[in-house]
Amino acid sequence: MTLKFTKCQSVLITGASRGLGLQMVKDLARSTERPKTIIATVRNPAAAQDLQNIAKSCKGVYIVQLDVVSQSSIDSALQAVSSILGSDGLNCLINNAAINLSTDLKTVTPDAMMKTFESNTVAPLFVTKVNWGAGAAFKSYAYRTSKAALNMTTRCLATDLESEGILCMALHPGWVRTDMGGPHADLSPEESISSLLSVITDLTENNHGGFLDYSGNNLQW
Ligand SMILES: NC(=O)c1ccc[n+]([C@@H]2O[C@H](COP(=O)([O-])OP(=O)(O)OC[C@H]3O[C@@H](n4cnc5c(N)ncnc54)[C@H](OP(=O)(O)O)[C@@H]3O)[C@@H](O)[C@H]2O)c1
Repeated sequence: MTLKFTKCQSVLITGASRGLGLQMVKDLARSTERPKTIIATVRNPAAAQDLQNIAKSCKGVYIVQLDVVSQSSIDSALQAVSSILGSDGLNCLINNAAINLSTDLKTVTPDAMMKTFESNTVAPLFVTKVNWGAGAAFKSYAYRTSKAALNMTTRCLATDLESEGILCMALHPGWVRTDMGGPHADLSPEESISSLLSVITDLTENNHGGFLDYSGNNLQW
């Protein structure tokens, strides 16, 4: 199944004040095969002059205030979007808003990490959740997301620490019967740790930056 914008009645784009979000609104608004309703959300509508000009000159383009890291702003935006769309609901959500704080291993701070996660990882989840989410059953969003991010942290550290001869990689212990893994998990702690220790013993520089499971298999992520 393909997503055709002509069949898509409504699109909402976050972070449409500038950059790619603004360009997407421009292109969609001027397209002959456009969605009927384009909702461009921005933190500060008064400062989004280019977007204001598009909304004035193109039919069906609405500007809604939305700071994606604020739950109260998400809730207010939902009200505004509902009054634009009525009972039709939203067809397509583009989570575009993001920040990119320039940091390296020397300058990165917990605050820079948390702010970036808040904008780029957590906010898209909650902007999506307010639009859709009924019947959701997938578990452990926070845990799984944190571990995917840890893989990338490991990858970055591997690049930076290679010149110091420090081997840096990630290990998956398997699903283990601990407080976290619960009583139905595959492995006992003894099985997991004895396998992990032999994987660690066999590590070479070829594993630098990699992600191995307790059997030494490479995991793609
Ligand atoms: N440019 C690239 O080369 C590149 C490459 C890969 C991926 N991307 C991704 O493409 C997307 C757009 O990037 P871009 O290059 O257009 O970035 P950009 O020029 O820096 O624009 C970022 C947009 O996000 C908005 N934003 C940031 N925090 C927000 C918040 N808390 N609430 C609402 N809006 C917020 C900004 O609004 P304000 O004007 O209010 O600050 C701005 O409209 C991002 O998801 C980025 O990660 C970009």
